[in-house]
Amino acid sequence: MSSLILTYKHNFKKAPIVSLNGEPVLLFNQQQHTLLEVLETKKVNVFSECRNGFCGACKTKVNKGSVRYLTKPLIELKQDECLPCCCVPDTNLDLDLTTDEPSNLYVQHNKSVVFLD
Ligand code: FES
Repeated sequence: MSSLILTYKHNFKKAPIVSLNGEPVLLFNQQQHTLLEVLETKKVNVFSECRNGFCGACKTKVNKGSVRYLTKPLIELKQDECLPCCCVPDTNLDLDLTTDEPSNLYVQHNKSVVFLD
């Protein structure tokens, strides 16, 4: 019986919650999509170009949590940065995206402006 419980706990990990500067925006339960694709379905438009980990255009600061890469990034990243185009959350994740006026405007860390709806 205890081995069944261990197997269950090992195989069923909770879906990570993705937050923007502390504000939860989605439950990441679509493992076949990248973080970038899932953010875009929630109308969070992160600036991107290659969408394959080559250019660094989507580089985003991670406030808290960790990611797992589906393809290895070809650019150097700091410990607290990720490339949403080629990763998925490995834990609950808080990204450095800040709100600005109007309330549907998000500004990506040092880069792009993102409009929600
Ligand atoms: S869009 Fe080029 S590295 Fe993510």
